[in-house]
Amino acid sequence: MAVMSVNSSISLRGLQVSPPLVLAPMVGLSHSALRTLVVEEGGVGLLFTEMLAARKLPEENERTSPFLVRGETERPLFYQLFLTETEAIGPAVEKLHALDAQGIDLNLGCPAPQLRRYGAGVFLTGDPGQVRRLVRTLRGATSLPVSAKIRLGASLDADALLAFCRMLEDEGIDLLTVHGRLDREKFCRRPRWDWIGRVKDAVGIPVLANGGIFTVADARECLRQSGADGLMLGRGAACRPRLFADIAREIYGLPVCGTGRVGQELYERFADLLEERFPAERRLGRLKQFTHYYARNYQFGHLLATSVQKSETLSGARRQAEQFFASLRDHN
Ligand SMILES: Cc1cc2nc3c(=O)[nH]c(=O)nc-3n(C[C@H](O)[C@H](O)[C@H](O)COP(=O)(O)O)c2cc1C
Repeated sequence: MAVMSVNSSISLRGLQVSPPLVLAPMVGLSHSALRTLVVEEGGVGLLFTEMLAARKLPEENERTSPFLVRGETERPLFYQLFLTETEAIGPAVEKLHALDAQGIDLNLGCPAPQLRRYGAGVFLTGDPGQVRRLVRTLRGATSLPVSAKIRLGASLDADALLAFCRMLEDEGIDLLTVHGRLDREKFCRRPRWDWIGRVKDAVGIPVLANGGIFTVADARECLRQSGADGLMLGRGAACRPRLFADIAREIYGLPVCGTGRVGQELYERFADLLEERFPAERRLGRLKQFTHYYARNYQFGHLLATSVQKSETLSGARRQAEQFFASLRDHN
């Protein structure tokens, strides 16, 4: 297939993101093990942490916190914050500087119930004045790139959406990620990639398109509809950690050196990374969450997902997975 005309890098205050393919922030998934795995497969230009509470961050111990553990290859890495008050920003940013963050992202798009309680994430966007104060304070506290991740708004209202995005740009946001769904829309609703294009046309900063990219064809179509400067992949990256590499090669025409691991080998590498990076009690839940997505690669993947889900120990879960992969070999 012909290589589309796309820019293979974006520049954020001197940081080159190349290719402009980004791992999304995802609670329980975008941790050190998955980040390392996608780096090993190649094609990813920027990584995000899962969302972190700005108020609690200064107290987290980076040597023991499962949210802060990070391997050497996980660069560049943006830390995503959720917050509601300007007072939390200074100490959180100081901590992120100490952690060698390459950038800081403000969560303005997550509708998770635990954020509703705080009025954070997407629930903040009902008060654009407060968002402006938060972004201004964040911008003033760091010279690192600052990004924001949003959805399309409470309803389809182009004027409101574009005014909000221009405000973010005016306050110094360097990069905007747009998840092409309304605030309360579920994953079953197709993302509106064309609406991301409206944002792209209205602002001068780079825009990443996010939502519903599971294949190279999805990536191509999303870029075509949105004209975005790059793509952010969430669940698609957990299903297929090599998707970044495939998109980088096939759409951006870049040579990619990845390990080329597939199937069982890739799954076991992920489990090994969990064992290497996390304390024993933090491994199984993360394996189960990853398996929920990885199992979608297989026609009978529900057998893998349910057997791992029922396991009470990591070694038991790994044995179940081995049996599943062995049964695939037996049937081929
Ligand atoms: C398990 C899970 C956890 C998520 N956690 C976050 C988060 O911490 N911060 C955030 O901004 N979005 C979060 N999201 C939303 C994703 O970043 C992304 O916007 C969404 O999944 C759509 O992209 P996708 O279709 O490529 O998965 C989460 C999504 C999932 C599935």
